[in-house]
Amino acid sequence: MYKSKAYAAASAKSPFASTTISRRDPTEHDVQIAILFCGICHSDLHTVRDEWNEIMPTVYPCVPGHEIVGRVEKIGSAVSKFKPGELAAVGCMVDSDGTCPECHSGLEQFCPKMVLTYNSTDRHLGGVTYGGYSDSIVVDERFVLRVPSNLSLAGAAPLLCAGITTYSPMRHWCVTKGKKVGVVGLGGLGHMAVKIAHALGAHVVVFTTSPHKKDDALRLGADEIVISRNTGEMKKHSSSFDFIVDAVSAEHDINAYLNLLRRDGNLTLVGLPSKPFAVAAPSLLFGRRSLSGSVIGGIAETQEMLDFCGAHNITSDVEVIPIQKLDEAYGRLLKSDVKYRFSIDMASLKSD
Ligand SMILES: NC(=O)c1ccc[n+]([C@@H]2O[C@H](COP(=O)([O-])OP(=O)(O)OC[C@H]3O[C@@H](n4cnc5c(N)ncnc54)[C@H](OP(=O)(O)O)[C@@H]3O)[C@@H](O)[C@H]2O)c1
Ligand SMILES: [Zn+2]
Ligand SMILES: [Zn+2]
Repeated sequence: MYKSKAYAAASAKSPFASTTISRRDPTEHDVQIAILFCGICHSDLHTVRDEWNEIMPTVYPCVPGHEIVGRVEKIGSAVSKFKPGELAAVGCMVDSDGTCPECHSGLEQFCPKMVLTYNSTDRHLGGVTYGGYSDSIVVDERFVLRVPSNLSLAGAAPLLCAGITTYSPMRHWCVTKGKKVGVVGLGGLGHMAVKIAHALGAHVVVFTTSPHKKDDALRLGADEIVISRNTGEMKKHSSSFDFIVDAVSAEHDINAYLNLLRRDGNLTLVGLPSKPFAVAAPSLLFGRRSLSGSVIGGIAETQEMLDFCGAHNITSDVEVIPIQKLDEAYGRLLKSDVKYRFSIDMASLKSD
């Protein structure tokens, strides 16, 4: 074992504080990574504040972070994919059983034994797993990804969650050239959805509650912007969408969006508010519409997404912050005031 610097929350109401955590020495299949950047996902905030208590209670101290980019420091004796000095990335998962039907289908995110990067049982050291708000992490090479060399590292980090979470359902629901695609909520996930849908050739419409994000939405690749609180503007798009991805972190009326789907259209939820939605049956029945959900993506698809982003020069628009500003960043995340992802520069941990 060795010690790693990190920032942790001691309870749902505590501010972040500097701490040290234990990491395992790399075993034969492990890669030890010096973390350079880590994105801040709204899931980090939900977890730190224990907002998902009913499905996934938070164990404290909690060290979040699952949008990790860094450099390989050490490798285990059987590692073949990585060498020390190379760039490497880690997303939301660090392990799975590798033997179940989900793993065999490349859908490790659905494996019953999947281990999340943070707040999961740590099978090596006991206790819980600690995430990327830290200067170092040790991960089985099966869960370590390659970062295309042309991408900026601070902007590539958020691809590991926000990128794959929006890419995966768009591939699953066949978003291609000419499809009309809606993106609800222009936050970390939403702005990646806009970039990816645009690169896939779709006609992209952004639904936002923040009128001041209009120019940004166009710059990011949207073809149209709708202020979702304006019912007149919403009505103009009735029954016209092939696919809508809903990336909102808080409660909202989902029927307003279901009614915008054309026949056989699909709305996929990727946002995970803590309270259940009320779905009006007619919104689904008329038009044979469907409502589904999606959670991150498998490892092979995550690599495919990274390569797609490399080929299209897609990164996240980031505000790079020192780790000492975590509490301030969380406050702004709650106010939908981020352009459009915070990325922590882990060099700032050195000064602690
Ligand atoms: N399924 C998965 O695998 C997965 C992965 C990562 C994250 N998530 C979840 O996805 C959600 C979004 O994450 P994120 O990191 O993108 O969050 P984020 O950056 O905070 O973006 C959320 C956006 O939702 C909109 N919004 C916020 N409050 C709203 C309200 N009361 N009514 C309507 N719209 C509102 C805002 O967009 P506008 O200002 O444009 O309205 C905001 O920017 C979170 O719940 C997160 O836990 C799921
Ligand atoms: Zn995330
Ligand atoms: Zn499995």
